[in-house]
Amino acid sequence: MSAEQDPVKLMKQEVGRAAAARVQSGTIVGLGTGSTTAYAIEFLGDRIKKGELKDIKGIPTSFQASVLAKQYGIPLTTLDEVDRIDIAIDGADEVDPQHNLIKGGGAAHTREKIVDALAEQFIVVVDSSKIVDRLGSTFPVPVEVIPLAMTPVMRAIEKLGGKPELRMGVKKAGPVITDQGNMVIDVKFDSIDNPGELEKTLNNIPGVLENGLFVGVTDLVLVGEVVDGKPVIR
Ligand code: 5RP
Repeated sequence: MSAEQDPVKLMKQEVGRAAAARVQSGTIVGLGTGSTTAYAIEFLGDRIKKGELKDIKGIPTSFQASVLAKQYGIPLTTLDEVDRIDIAIDGADEVDPQHNLIKGGGAAHTREKIVDALAEQFIVVVDSSKIVDRLGSTFPVPVEVIPLAMTPVMRAIEKLGGKPELRMGVKKAGPVITDQGNMVIDVKFDSIDNPGELEKTLNNIPGVLENGLFVGVTDLVLVGEVVDGKPVIR
C-alpha cells in the first residue's frame, strides 16, 4: 500500500490540516512535536505559501519541530521575544475523558509543557487509538531526569509504586538524550487515580525536570478516525 493510501497516515494528515486551518494571521503559534503535529506544521507552511496566512511566528517545542518549521517556511521566534502564544498545536500519547494527557513519546514533553501551557488556546491532535478511560492504561509516564540524579530518582519513583525504565534509543545502543541533554525514564503505574497529584509529586523529586502528565491545560481535542477506509475528524 502506498503512503498516500495508508488510512492511518491519511487520518493524521487530515487532523493536522484541521488544526492548521484554525490558525489566524498575525498570531504566535506553538509548534508541537510528533508525527501528527508534523502534518499541522506542513499545512501551516502550505497556507503561508498560498498567501492565505500572513505574519505568523512559530515557537517550536523541540529541535525536530524547529527543523520542520524551517523546511516549510514558518518564521520562528522565542519566548524572550513575545509576550503571548495565541494557539499551540500538539500531539499526545493518551487523552482521558477530562482531556488530561500523557505526552513525551518523543521525549519533548518539557518544552511542550512550557509552550502548550502558555498558549491562549491549546489544541491536541490525535488519532482515536490515543483515547483512554484512564491515563496510564496504555502508555507509561515519561519523566525527564538530570543524568546525575538518575539512581535516586528511580528509587524515589519505586517508593511511589512506579516501575521506572530508562528509555533507550534505536538499536538500544544508548539512552535517548533530550534537547536539554537529559535522559528520560518511562514509568508504569498500576493505576493513576489522581493525575494532577501525581504530576506534582513527580516534579517534586529532586533531579526531575518535568514529567509527561499534562493536567488541565487542553482546550480542544481533534480526534481522527478511519471510517469505511476514509479519514474522519471529530
Ligand atoms: C512528543 C509527544 C508527541 O506529541 C506524542 O508522542 C504523539 O506523537 P505522534 O503524533 O507521533 O503519535 O508528546 O514528546
